[in-house]
Amino acid sequence: MIEIEPLLGLRMINDGSVSLLSTRREGKTNVSTLSWQMPLSQDPPMVGMTLKPGSLSNELLRETGEFVLSIPDASLAAETHYCGTHRGDSEDKIRAMQFVTLRARKVSPLLVTNCIGHLECAVRDVSKYGDCFFYASEVLAALVEEDYFEEGWTENAQTLHHLGGDRYKTAGGILEASKLPLPKQLPKMPPLFPD
Ligand SMILES: Cc1cc2nc3c(=O)[nH]c(=O)nc-3n(C[C@H](O)[C@H](O)[C@H](O)COP(=O)(O)O)c2cc1C
Repeated sequence: MIEIEPLLGLRMINDGSVSLLSTRREGKTNVSTLSWQMPLSQDPPMVGMTLKPGSLSNELLRETGEFVLSIPDASLAAETHYCGTHRGDSEDKIRAMQFVTLRARKVSPLLVTNCIGHLECAVRDVSKYGDCFFYASEVLAALVEEDYFEEGWTENAQTLHHLGGDRYKTAGGILEASKLPLPKQLPKMPPLFPD
C-alpha cells in the first residue's frame, strides 16, 4: 500500500462505486456499506456522503467526526453486502467478515486492508436533507494498492456498483474518451435565409 495526494485520492470515488465506511468508538471499529458518496471540493480535497439516521455509523460519525472510506473490489461483494445489511451495535462485523485491519495515518478508525484504496477523513459540516444527514468532510490522507491505481483505477480494479437489493455490477473495461472518434460532421444544410 502506498500513500498518494488526497486530491488524487478523490478519483477513487469518481466512479460512484460502493465503499466501506469505518468509524470507531472505545477501541472498536465498525464497518458499514455506503454508496451515496461523492467528491465535493478540490481545495481542500473534500468528500460528501449521505447517511440515514439510526445506524451505528451515523451515531459514531456525529460523536467522533472521523472515518475511513475504503473501496472494496468484486472479491468482497458478499462481505460488502453483509456490512450493509447488518447493524454494528449487535455484532463485530470486522471479526465476522474476517477483515484484516491496519492503523490509519491520521484518524482512529482502522483501515480494512482487504480493500484496494482508502480515504482518511474528518467531518467539517453536517446538514439534514429530507430524512438523511449529509456530511461534508476533508480528506486527510489517501492510500491505494499500487497494482490497482495509477492516475485513477486501473483495469484490474473491479469496483462494485450497487443496482439495488442484493444486485451489484462490477466495473467494465476502461475507455480513453479522447482517443475515440466523435460523430462525423453533419451534412451541410442549405441556408434557411439565402442572401
Ligand atoms: C450497497 C449498499 C449501499 C448502502 N449505502 C448506504 C448509504 O449511502 N447511506 C446509508 O445511510 N446507508 C447505506 N446503506 C445501508 C447501511 O450500510 C446499513 O444501514 C448498515 O446496516 C448500517 O450499519 P451500522 O448500523 O453498523 O452502521 C447501504 C447498504 C448497502 C447494502
